[in-house]
Amino acid sequence: MKITFSPTPAAQLETECLVAVVLDRGDKDKTEPFVSADKPLQQAAAELIASGDVTGKNFEATWLHKPNGLKAKRLLLLGGGKANKFSGSELRKVAGAAVRSLKPRSLRSLAFVLPEGLSAQDGARAVVEGAIVGNFDPDTYKSDRKDQNVESVTVVAAGDQAALQRALDEARTLGESQNFTRELVNEPSNRMTPTILGNRAQAMAKEVGLKCEVYGADKLKALKMGAFWGVAQGSDEPPALIVMRYEPAGAPEKPVLGLVGKGVTFDTGGISIKPADGMEKMKYDMAGGATMIGAMRAIALLKPKVKVIGIVCATENMPSGKAQKPGDVQTAMSGKTIEVINTDAEGRMVLADGLCYARQLGCTHLVDAATLTGAVVVALGHANAGIFANDEGIYQRFTKALDRAGEKMWRLPLDDEYKEQIKSSIADIMNTGGRWGGAITAAMFLKEFAEDTPWIHLDIAGTAWMEDNKPWIAKGPSGIAVRSLVEFAREFGVN
Ligand code: BES
Ligand code: MN
Ligand code: ZN
Repeated sequence: MKITFSPTPAAQLETECLVAVVLDRGDKDKTEPFVSADKPLQQAAAELIASGDVTGKNFEATWLHKPNGLKAKRLLLLGGGKANKFSGSELRKVAGAAVRSLKPRSLRSLAFVLPEGLSAQDGARAVVEGAIVGNFDPDTYKSDRKDQNVESVTVVAAGDQAALQRALDEARTLGESQNFTRELVNEPSNRMTPTILGNRAQAMAKEVGLKCEVYGADKLKALKMGAFWGVAQGSDEPPALIVMRYEPAGAPEKPVLGLVGKGVTFDTGGISIKPADGMEKMKYDMAGGATMIGAMRAIALLKPKVKVIGIVCATENMPSGKAQKPGDVQTAMSGKTIEVINTDAEGRMVLADGLCYARQLGCTHLVDAATLTGAVVVALGHANAGIFANDEGIYQRFTKALDRAGEKMWRLPLDDEYKEQIKSSIADIMNTGGRWGGAITAAMFLKEFAEDTPWIHLDIAGTAWMEDNKPWIAKGPSGIAVRSLVEFAREFGVN
């Protein structure tokens, strides 16, 4: 996608489609919705607004052809919701919705007028991120795929040119990295084995100048990753331990940020096999891993002054004659013994060794992302990812990143009481904690392997896959957490 900005006043801009945000003021005296401070734009929209046909309701789209007094061929008015609730994250969605309304109309370019209330840089950032995310569709394998992509977005903005250009470039990197993650997650498991995921990570790393090593079963055994191998041993597809290193010149020795992702390329449940109904969705069980690969891409391009190591534990979870069985005891890399009650609780097994390895490599702060539990979907639905933390400082830092990225996550507790549920009678710990609080007991299990390192756990089972089309984003992989993780790393970069 070509992304530019133009200081030309909106009315003078020659474009296929000019897009402006309409806000609902919802004021008792001034009930009419508000378009823009730009007079000619206001005039062009005045009649529609006076008629009451345009209200500013969220994502309401109104098309105007040959708008009076404007050089644009069309004016698209997009509702941004209540004016007093409008922020960068709403703008991001409105920009996505603009792109998604153009796509089926065979329009290839748009110019977006920034609404008031945000700085030009923040506005430009949100529009570009939203537009790139909105441009993605998951119909990769359709023979009649039309590739109806929007090819060019112009942000109508005046101000410090260099600062604006920087905002556009950074936003492009964030949006494209999020889409890279979505591309990986979208692939079915026969086209995204652990080996292929490793190859994709290496190809990306080469492109952006990251170090990337991909190890196989031998390395898992050499490192004594008994928990990870316990899952991997049941599959004919070899596992992959993907290690990406970002070590910029001039970065201090510490902190070292560790990003650990669950890369289960297909989760059948193993011997504790899942029901057939809906099992096809378990191709997205590598979303946490893909999130870390996308985040490392953006970090390599944006170059914050902090060391970051990305680790993806990639494997299938299969039933076979070699598969681990309920009741088996595995010894994790840390030395802790795990009683495997349910082989479908495999994500925490592979992450246990991933977290331990990250600590061994010198990570001082850890974040993991995983489609870990159905229970988090029961608790939070699809609007919020679950977030857990063993340290207040790292949690506070992460919430700032969430805010900047406009992503929603809700904190769940990690009180000692829950540890009772994962006590085993035969080993140090068991891999399931019974019926209640399933997202929490899974996190409590991981906490045992983060030990005393400040750590955040993101359970993205309910948010990594959009169940339906939304005005701003296609049904399918969402790329949740990529932007927040990158903002988090950048936050570490400013010491
Ligand atoms: N990959 C699943 C979790 C999941 C569920 C992801 C729904 C996406 C959507 C995970 O490996 C799993 O199977 N978890 C079990 C744990 C249970 C056996 C303790 C679950 O949530 O049922
Ligand atoms: Mn499972
Ligand atoms: Zn799983």
